[in-house]
Amino acid sequence: MASEKHRELEGRVALVTGAGGAGCGSAISRRLASEGARIIALDNHERRAREVASSIEAEFGVKSVACVADITDRPALDKALAAATDVIGPVDILINNAAINIQGSIFDFSPDDFDRVLATDLSACWYLIRQTIGGMRERRWGSIVNISSIAGYLGGAGREAPYGIAKAGLHDLTRGVALEGGAHNIRCNALALGLVQSRFVQKYIDQFKSQIDRVALRRLATPQEVAEVVLFLVSERSSYITGEIINVSGGYFLGQ
Ligand SMILES: NC(=O)c1ccc[n+]([C@@H]2O[C@H](COP(=O)([O-])OP(=O)(O)OC[C@H]3O[C@@H](n4cnc5c(N)ncnc54)[C@H](O)[C@@H]3O)[C@@H](O)[C@H]2O)c1
Repeated sequence: MASEKHRELEGRVALVTGAGGAGCGSAISRRLASEGARIIALDNHERRAREVASSIEAEFGVKSVACVADITDRPALDKALAAATDVIGPVDILINNAAINIQGSIFDFSPDDFDRVLATDLSACWYLIRQTIGGMRERRWGSIVNISSIAGYLGGAGREAPYGIAKAGLHDLTRGVALEGGAHNIRCNALALGLVQSRFVQKYIDQFKSQIDRVALRRLATPQEVAEVVLFLVSERSSYITGEIINVSGGYFLGQ
């Protein structure tokens, strides 16, 4: 008799933000579900969040719920998250993936746009960690992955300053959470992504062409390649890795 395949996230609940996009969030949700995790698919785009949640249930046979909220709207986020966890259980794994990027010179940014990027890409990540870490501490298990960018090292590469600032902040948030969480068996890591197939990169593909030529692997990452690293970081296979910023960039910095 064929034995059932062991699924390494069986029994865990994963909250993935930005799960409704065509990019990394849905790929991560699907990969974690394929290993048995129950998924809270959070996005501010209601239809896409619901589609991802229902397709996960159908394909992987795990429970999945859509959590429709703007992560910068704290009261609405708290309400939507409470409703989701009532159905699916408390969060063991948090993937802070949702982000926005507004292009512009550091000197010309409108104050509202600057604040909006910081609120989405940094403050909301901290807030979600704050709201979920209590339960992880009680259960003495938690794994958090912050999806960052090599822009966190590059000063926003001259045209996306608040995004770079937020991602640099996310690196320090990652280390701080790892340091405080370690005593409670909570790990926190970040991925510094290079260029990944997405609507945003497709929109500005002409701008990105010269950068892609300088990447050692000379191509964009697929969202599935990103999801694979996330799975490793939330699984017990990486049980002694915490506080790390792991480049998933195809060798972006080689030969620069
Ligand atoms: N695509 C790239 O080349 C690239 C490069 C480096 C880093 N990253 C990082 O990877 C992550 C995913 O990027 P992607 O390009 O796959 O994303 P994407 O644009 O495909 O998806 C982002 C999702 O976040 C959601 N979202 C945005 N603001 C939200 C809010 N306030 N509340 C709730 N949901 C919100 C959007 O609706 C969307 O579904 C981001 O953190 C991004 O910074 C991407």
